[in-house]
Amino acid sequence: MRQFVLCITIFCLLCTYTRINAATTVDSLVGCLRSKGVLNYTTSGSPFYSTALDFSMQNLRFTEAGVPKPAVIILPSTAQEVQKAWTCMLRGGWALRVRNGGHSYEGLSSSASAPFAIIDLINMHKITVNVQKKTAWIEAGVRIGELYHAIASQSSNRLGFPAGTCSTVGMSGQIMGGGYGMLSRKYGVAADRVLQAQVIDGNGKLIKRVSTSNPDLFWALRGGGGGAWGIVVAWKLKLVDLPETITTFSLWKTGKQVITDLVYKWQTIAPKAPPELFIAIYMAGISYTGSPDMGASFYGQYWGTINETLALLNKIYPELGLSESDCKQGNWMQAATTMAGLSDPDALLNRQQSSRNYFKGKSDFVSKPLTKAALSAAYDIMVKNTKGWMIFEPYGGVISRIPSSAIAFPHREGRLFMIQYQAVWAEDSNSSESNLIEWLRGLYSYMAPFATYTPSRAAYVNYIDLDLGDGMGAGKSYFGANFVRLVEIKARFDPSDVFNQPQSVPVTM
Ligand SMILES: *[C@@H]1O[C@H](CO)[C@@H](O)[C@H](O)[C@H]1NC(C)=O
Ligand SMILES: *[C@@H]1O[C@H](CO)[C@@H](O)[C@H](O)[C@H]1NC(C)=O
Ligand SMILES: *[C@@H]1O[C@H](CO)[C@@H](O)[C@H](O)[C@H]1NC(C)=O
Repeated sequence: MRQFVLCITIFCLLCTYTRINAATTVDSLVGCLRSKGVLNYTTSGSPFYSTALDFSMQNLRFTEAGVPKPAVIILPSTAQEVQKAWTCMLRGGWALRVRNGGHSYEGLSSSASAPFAIIDLINMHKITVNVQKKTAWIEAGVRIGELYHAIASQSSNRLGFPAGTCSTVGMSGQIMGGGYGMLSRKYGVAADRVLQAQVIDGNGKLIKRVSTSNPDLFWALRGGGGGAWGIVVAWKLKLVDLPETITTFSLWKTGKQVITDLVYKWQTIAPKAPPELFIAIYMAGISYTGSPDMGASFYGQYWGTINETLALLNKIYPELGLSESDCKQGNWMQAATTMAGLSDPDALLNRQQSSRNYFKGKSDFVSKPLTKAALSAAYDIMVKNTKGWMIFEPYGGVISRIPSSAIAFPHREGRLFMIQYQAVWAEDSNSSESNLIEWLRGLYSYMAPFATYTPSRAAYVNYIDLDLGDGMGAGKSYFGANFVRLVEIKARFDPSDVFNQPQSVPVTM
């Protein structure tokens, strides 16, 4: 059995809400939308409503009956329609959620505690690639897969963009949380490659050149978390050069001792390897071998042929035993397809994941290699459960060389790798749900002594985790030393905190 991964990770969170401040009705919001010519919306009870709500619910936990649902879902097609919709919502005192991919691990782009409406950017996914200038303008509802597909096909696979692996994730949430991916060791995170943004502010004004007119806001938008900085309607991206040939590989190993030794060694290899090599590890408890044990997939990509990949890996990591049959050679579009768990490149254009689950995630950073004893004890926790996993994703290279204060995304120098933890289940059954979440918290708490603190325990905002507390507590984990500047910018740009979610950057310390 081969458990190759996964549409992991990195999600979109673009969400905001404000307190309702006037007696308001759905009718008056709908009346306002109609009077302004914003005609694609749906209200609770109408036939299209549940389709529109469900389409981008990527974590099924937040489809459950007890989770608050929006009164209205608005599906604008232009920035002007977004402005009009937001103006109507402001008038009625509605809380706002902006949704593009719907991958928020905590469902924050689809639910809120106050009466709210969703502005869903699903109809705004135009991509304009300029191959000569190596740039692209994208509308804010673009998802990772369609971006990769457009860039690769229009540049004959010579240009790309460094962002996450999971193709249905929205680019806006991705950028606003940083945007780690398989090209990050070579080119940094997605947010490092943003040239311009267009944002609608708390009064409904469209700021067309944020980078020059609001440089502080532009800094905050690149990694400062979703749902705090206005409604982004478009981004301009700097594309990156790619080689003709990329080899992807994945290799499944079982056995606690085997995996302990391989992972121990990986910690000294993966973060220091040439930036053209990305090698990560997915680890999970397994039971199919008869008794509880560990399984792990070592997967990644390298810029070169299969033979060049084998030559490099067999030199720096011979213990892995990579062979030709573990590898696949092709162009970047094929690599992105394989790594997203798809087989046909055109499947990158799908805007909904083929399978969806209930899950809870957490994250850590590691700056000092774990001992074998520490790894082995972590695996003792993992073998107790086959519905959870850990992924180790390497740092080093360009992502670690960019100064921590260059943009809001702070996780740079000294990090060896990032850990993502998840518990995943397929059905709505709350007994297993609470047991699994407790298991996940237990694993995370076991890992505390090995994690990075800056000075709060560091975490990746795109693996958003409400266990980290409110915007003050979580902000210190997500943004480290950049948190203070983010609060100052928030206080100036959005002093009344109209754009907020449970963990958005607060207006005061
Ligand atoms: C609204 O947008 C959705 C999503 O693209 C589309 O399926 C639907 O047909 C649109 N409805 C109207 C009335 O334009
Ligand atoms: C890869 O290396 C093997 C053994 O060295 C060689 O026989 C084979 O021709 C090489 N393949 C390519 C495509 O270069
Ligand atoms: C889930 O928990 C609630 C409250 O504890 C209980 O009423 C309900 O029956 C449970 N549902 C399932 C499917 O176990």
